[in-house]
Amino acid sequence: MAVKRTPFIAGNWKMNLDHLQAIAFVQKLAWALADAKHDFADAEVAVFPPFTDLRSVQTLVSADSLPIAYGAQDVSAHDSGAYTGEISGAFLAQLDCRYVIIGHSERRTLHHETDADVNAKVLAAHRHGLVPVVCVGETADDLEAHGPSAVPVAQLRAALEGVDGSKGLVVAYEPVWAIGSGQAATPAQAEQVCSALRALIAELLGDEVASATRILYGGSVKAANIASFLREPNVDGALVGGASLDIDEFSSIVRFKKHVGA
Ligand code: PGA
Repeated sequence: MAVKRTPFIAGNWKMNLDHLQAIAFVQKLAWALADAKHDFADAEVAVFPPFTDLRSVQTLVSADSLPIAYGAQDVSAHDSGAYTGEISGAFLAQLDCRYVIIGHSERRTLHHETDADVNAKVLAAHRHGLVPVVCVGETADDLEAHGPSAVPVAQLRAALEGVDGSKGLVVAYEPVWAIGSGQAATPAQAEQVCSALRALIAELLGDEVASATRILYGGSVKAANIASFLREPNVDGALVGGASLDIDEFSSIVRFKKHVGA
């Protein structure tokens, strides 16, 4: 029997908004969604601020019981010790983070994170009860050389080595050529890769985990194109970068159900 997956709209702030700006942003986002009578059963909402904002976001979300989840943009593969500059999953768990983004293409490219690093971070997230949002995606060169699914599927296979599927997982398919470019994949392209990723999850972790796992599309998602992605059967939400920094645009993405069929 098919499991109903709650759509998931995740805002990756990257290195934007300090902790004071974060407080104002999350408060206004919550108001905007409340004003619009957003039903959180239609779409779960999460924001991924910089590390230095997380304590402020936690305090606000918990004081006002806001229905907004949050997580970090990265986590150390290690739990504690001499790792200058790194952040343990234990610290994120203490801040009530539910999620953590792992293996974003900017980490893979600019910080040379390998598939093995991504796998170690996924295991670290699970050790601390965090749900990893594992990012995979091909470059324009990969697309030309290997077609659309080969690289993301290989990256996910490596990321899931030794992973316990019962501990929670979100996958984000983000073609590198679509990130920040204004050139989103087509819904059909996203569906093709997301369905290949779901088949891989079924192979590695079983059908039940595969049918419960949310697979997001990311790369130049906007209010104007979100509904077309969410119409695809294997696309369960979006990881949104640039457009997640604009409250009106992001809340409109969250309320994609209102513009399905528009
Ligand atoms: P974008 O970024 O929405 O600005 O393309 C997506 C991402 O990097 O997660």
